This record gives sequence, structure tokens and C-alpha cells, in this order.
Amino acid sequence: MSKIILITGVSKGLGCAMAKGFAREGHTVAGCGRNAGSLQSLSSALGTPHRFAPVDVSNDQEVARWIQSVTKDIGVPDLVLNNAAIINHNAPLWEIDSDEFDHVIDINIKGVQNVIRHVIPLMIRKGSGVLVNFSSGWGRSTSPEVAPYCATKWAIEGLTQALAQELPAGLAAIPLNPGIINTEMLQSCLGTGASQFETAETWAQKAVPFLLQLGTKDNGQSLSAP
Ligand SMILES: NC(=O)c1ccc[n+]([C@@H]2O[C@H](COP(=O)([O-])OP(=O)(O)OC[C@H]3O[C@@H](n4cnc5c(N)ncnc54)[C@H](OP(=O)(O)O)[C@@H]3O)[C@@H](O)[C@H]2O)c1
Repeated sequence: MSKIILITGVSKGLGCAMAKGFAREGHTVAGCGRNAGSLQSLSSALGTPHRFAPVDVSNDQEVARWIQSVTKDIGVPDLVLNNAAIINHNAPLWEIDSDEFDHVIDINIKGVQNVIRHVIPLMIRKGSGVLVNFSSGWGRSTSPEVAPYCATKWAIEGLTQALAQELPAGLAAIPLNPGIINTEMLQSCLGTGASQFETAETWAQKAVPFLLQLGTKDNGQSLSAP
């Protein structure tokens, strides 16, 4: 059965590869990101009924308008993937200035809650749906020089598990560690060392079927992509 899939952060990396993978499987994708040019290219490549909109997840009003228009035009999502995130530039915690720290928190934590606040009531009314919040290996362990990012991904684990305890029957919330994939985010922390890891496209070949089979049995489980 064809699903309606809402994905944040589709302009590059895992989000872009998942959008293409779900569309190929016959599902309808509504995606967002900040880079309007990349979203336009994705729109041209995938066509209708998919929809890609410039939305900054840290802006609550933009998120509200986006979810309202997606719901009106294509319906309430069956699967929501809170994938958009950023990482701080490599540095010890005491060298990260307050603007950069705010930015990581605003996108990686508050952006996820903005989506949840606007989409979960609609999914509750529909009586079904799965919400996956992208965590990280750094949501379950730590490394030096990425403390702000680690803090947000540990927050995602806690926030998602508490949410899972609040949801009514029929819905599920799942924190997902996608693994280690050669994207711009990984290149930011590993430099050229990122190239030894798989591409987003190869990752998506396994991740897309894995995400499609998630259901209420997985509510509150900290999962890792295959
Ligand atoms: N790659 C890995 O090895 C790895 C490992 C563990 C976890 N993860 C997680 O997997 C997810 C995807 O990561 P990735 O590697 O694909 O990163 P990426 O290549 O940097 O892509 C991140 C995506 O998020 C979007 N984004 C960032 N800020 C946004 C905002 N304020 N509003 C809307 N969209 C925004 C970016 O688009 P714009 O710049 O156009 O907004 C981009 O499309 C993230 O949650 C990341 O933490 C990745």
C-alpha cells in the first residue's frame, strides 16, 4: 500500500537518498530543507505527487504552515522522518560560541519538537502512524570535539522514548541511529576519512525497506538501521 512520507532535510545526504528511494517504491514524499535550489532539482527529478518546500525546521511558523499544506493537499503522513540536523564544527566545548551552540540546539532538538507539535495531533486523530527521530551513534556514546551535537542526539533518545510512553495505541515513536555514512555531515567531522564509509544512496537501499516495515511493535525501541 502506498504511504505518505514526511521527511525533513531532503536537500542532500540521507534525506535526499531516502526521498528518491521511497518515491521509486511508489510512496508519496513530502520533504523540506532550507536550500531552495536543491529542493527544486529534487522536485524536477521526482515530479508529482511528491512535494518539496523550503522550510527551516527551527522556525515554528514555517513548520506549521508546511504541515498544514501537506495535510490538506496529500493527507496526514503515515511515516514521519525527523532527519534534518546540523553538526558543530570540530572544537572543544569551551571554544564553541553561544550562537553556534544555539543553532545546533534550535535545529536538532527544537526543530524536531516543532514537527512533532504540528503533526502528532493529526496522526492521533487518524489513529495510526510511525514517527522516527534520527539519532546517532553519538546519541548513545560520545567523542571529543562534537559535544554540542552529542548533547542533541542524547536529547533525541530521551525525548523520543518519553514521547513513546505518551502516544495512544496505533502510533509509534522510534529513535534511530542510521549508522556511519559518507555525507557532508560526516565529512565535516572526519574530513577525507569519511570516504571509507558507504554513500547515502547505498545506505538508502537497505534503510528504505527497513523504515517501511516499522510499526507499533517498535514503539520506544532505540533502533539502528541495517
Ligand atoms: N551521516 C552520518 O554518518 C550520520 C551518522 C549518525 C547520524 N546521522 C543523522 O542522520 C541525519 C541526516 O544526516 P546527513 O548525514 O544526511 O546530514 P547532511 O548531509 O548534512 O544533511 C542534513 C540535511 O538536513 C537539512 N537541514 C539542516 N538544517 C535544517 C533546517 N534548519 N531546516 C530544514 N532542514 C535542515 C539539510 O538541508 P539544508 O542545508 O538545505 O537545510 C540537509 O538536507 C541527521 O539527523 C544526522 O544527525 C548521520
